[in-house]
Amino acid sequence: MLMGVMSDSHDRIEAIRAAIDKFNAESVELVLHAGDIVSPFSVREFEKLNCKIVCVTGNNDGDPKALRKFLSKIGGELWDVFFKIEVGDKRIALTHGEWPELVEALILSGKYDVVINGHSHEASIRKQNNVLVINPGSCSYPIVNGVVTIGNGTIAVLDLDKMSANILKI
Ligand code: NI
Repeated sequence: MLMGVMSDSHDRIEAIRAAIDKFNAESVELVLHAGDIVSPFSVREFEKLNCKIVCVTGNNDGDPKALRKFLSKIGGELWDVFFKIEVGDKRIALTHGEWPELVEALILSGKYDVVINGHSHEASIRKQNNVLVINPGSCSYPIVNGVVTIGNGTIAVLDLDKMSANILKI
């Protein structure tokens, strides 16, 4: 199963559209969004996804109630701070990442095969303690060499059968 992973979309509509086009082209079966959607009004763009989207709140999500309402209208979900899901025998944890200690605790807990976080806007894929740790970066405002940029945003696709992930430029 392929899973789409994204974060920190921060209202950039054209970047969200490009990310969704890519996920649809890759035929992902679920998209996990690691937070910082920001405006509830940008949620309508996610309606064009061919699969369900599940999100967690990030530090810039000031109106989770409205975000949750708008997401539920398109069949999506918003969880406060943390979400976990089991797919087959793979356990996945999702959190925004503004508390690095929380991300570290999830990795070290032994309870998850995959830990996803965003917040830094810097894409990375690594293995720590036999856990696949994915930061998809930001589809909207990627940070390259310490500088916030516009364009060349990133998303990730997780292949649960191979237990590998790729960063994709949008
Ligand atoms: Ni953030």
